[in-house]
Amino acid sequence: MKNFWEIAIKPSIEQLAPTHIIEIGSDKGFNTRKVLSYCIENNCRFTAIDPFPQFDYQTMEKESNGLFKMVTDLSLNVLKDLEPADVALIDGDHNWYTVYNELDQIFANRKADKTLPVCFFHDTGWPYARRDMYYNPENIPKSHIKPHAKGGMFITNPELFNIGFNNNLYNALTEGGEKNGVLTAIEDFVSDSSHNLTLYSFDGLHGLSILFEGTEQNHQIFSPFDIQKKIALLTEYHRLGQFYQVR
Ligand SMILES: C[S@@+](CC[C@H](N)C(=O)[O-])C[C@H]1O[C@@H](n2cnc3c(N)ncnc32)[C@H](O)[C@@H]1O
Repeated sequence: MKNFWEIAIKPSIEQLAPTHIIEIGSDKGFNTRKVLSYCIENNCRFTAIDPFPQFDYQTMEKESNGLFKMVTDLSLNVLKDLEPADVALIDGDHNWYTVYNELDQIFANRKADKTLPVCFFHDTGWPYARRDMYYNPENIPKSHIKPHAKGGMFITNPELFNIGFNNNLYNALTEGGEKNGVLTAIEDFVSDSSHNLTLYSFDGLHGLSILFEGTEQNHQIFSPFDIQKKIALLTEYHRLGQFYQVR
């Protein structure tokens, strides 16, 4: 998620002017720090959720003047009880069950004026668009877990190998099919929802998607052609090892 902050997320958030942002999946806090810096400048509350944050979040909480709170739990244990958000940044457990139910809780817990939050998702491209990954398979109900193993992935071959991308993580044995992967979860949520939702998905750097209520104002904020162009350029910069230069 962190790679998309400057080129796609921050410019959108500046127009949305949120009062509360939720982040699911903080890891080392790279994206969390960027979001917090925006929140401090703009007096916006910020809740991050991760069962195992790998950074000094206590100091960040202390220095945030009450704006930042880190919740060290699983998203699905806590989302329904949080203050409703205007923006959700979703980059936690990359599987159908978790993402579908995160959306369900976030949209059910919406603001009193009924505005729906704008959701940004990382990992809606290869490999997790159409394949589940489980940080801890025991967190997922048996009825929703796919056959899986620790194994690495290659773009050109759907099987798992001892080597390959993310070979240290539990990945579903097969790609595609029903209820498999992050993008599948979002698409299924959109088709089950009674709201007028718009989903934009962008390729590059494992994929970014944006889900929002299809109001005219929201359509003016998100310019898909412009975002895809910037992500393509950013992907080239990463390939060449020249980070964060895209304007
Ligand atoms: C890909 S990393 C997040 C990277 C971060 N967003 C960034 O851009 O730097 C995913 C994180 O999600 C956390 N995670 C896994 N399952 C989760 C869940 N159910 N709820 C919240 N966080 C979860 C993991 O502990 C891990 O730190």
